[in-house]
Amino acid sequence: ELGGFPHFMLKEIFEQPETVRNAMRGRLDRDAATAKFGGLNLTPQQLRAIDRFVLTACGTSWHSALVGEYMIETLARVPVEVEYASELRYRNPPLTPTTLLFALTQSGETIDTLAALREMKRKGHPTMAICNVVGSTIAREADGGIYLHAGPEIGVASTKAYTSQCVVMALLALHFGRLHHLSYEAGLRIIDDLERLPEQVEKALETNAECRRIAAKYAGCENFLYLGRLYNFPTALEGALKLKEISYIHAEGYPAAEMKHGPIALVDEHTPSVFIVPRCGVYDKVVANVEEIKARGGPVIAIVEEGDHEVAQIADDVLEIPATADFLQPIVAAIPLQLLAYHIAVLRGCDVDKPRNLAKSVTVE
Ligand code: M6R
Repeated sequence: ELGGFPHFMLKEIFEQPETVRNAMRGRLDRDAATAKFGGLNLTPQQLRAIDRFVLTACGTSWHSALVGEYMIETLARVPVEVEYASELRYRNPPLTPTTLLFALTQSGETIDTLAALREMKRKGHPTMAICNVVGSTIAREADGGIYLHAGPEIGVASTKAYTSQCVVMALLALHFGRLHHLSYEAGLRIIDDLERLPEQVEKALETNAECRRIAAKYAGCENFLYLGRLYNFPTALEGALKLKEISYIHAEGYPAAEMKHGPIALVDEHTPSVFIVPRCGVYDKVVANVEEIKARGGPVIAIVEEGDHEVAQIADDVLEIPATADFLQPIVAAIPLQLLAYHIAVLRGCDVDKPRNLAKSVTVE
């Protein structure tokens, strides 16, 4: 059952080259330079009329929704709102009649996500489920949807479902981009980027031994900061959640530049900052943020692109991931963050597959 792995979480982390591929299988259409889905149950005319998305979810699924917001707004130029399902169900925000709801959920059983979906349905909005568990309540109640095809996720800490959700978000961004302004050539470039992804994820898994070494160095720390910008801001949130839920270490994720507005007060020699800093439009800005942390005596663990010497000179420890298109960085960068959290939790003697106080699906309010 565990296929030689000591825990389901590690097994599921290592399944990701395959699960990422499964999330795209049959959905990339090179002829039309777009992504296609079998189950949206809306005509191209209806889809084109959508002028706003609301993405709702809880926990890790909420983080993939944030990644989706960045992808969809950048590639499709359609406004996106990301709402915690527990808030959306009671919040009553003003929405245009042509707002489409996406509920993101691995289990398809999370009660707040279900209630938010029902509330949006009641108001007459079309609802879509992005689910892993086939035939789950949310999958059945939504008007349409997209399955992740990631296979059963047993570890309470979501890993492969998260990266699959991010892939589906990229496919949606491509689909809606191509319904609007995105050119045929731009669509093809995105397909090329997506097709390279499984191999990049495979490569990112090679950080495993280095993640274990770094974990041993910092496993005694009680506070961590996770910092990244743009596409890697949600990545920072997800890295922090992974660490706190399985190792019980306090961790906070922030957009890197926000640290000056409070969290930098936490920085000392016992509080490591994990920077997600692959090359991107704001690379130099994030490097400046790394320098600010170092100037205050904080240890820095940096996730960088292969061959990056600039950050390697300043950071205490470096994890190299392969270069990828910026919108796919959250998927590749998630791998070392999952591995780091895993090894720290194991070293602290925690039950990584069944962390205290947590359930795989939260079916009570
Ligand atoms: O099944 P769902 O995706 O709806 O679950 C949502 C959250 O409960 C879930 O992501 C939770 O945050 C995980 N333990 C995170 O690893």
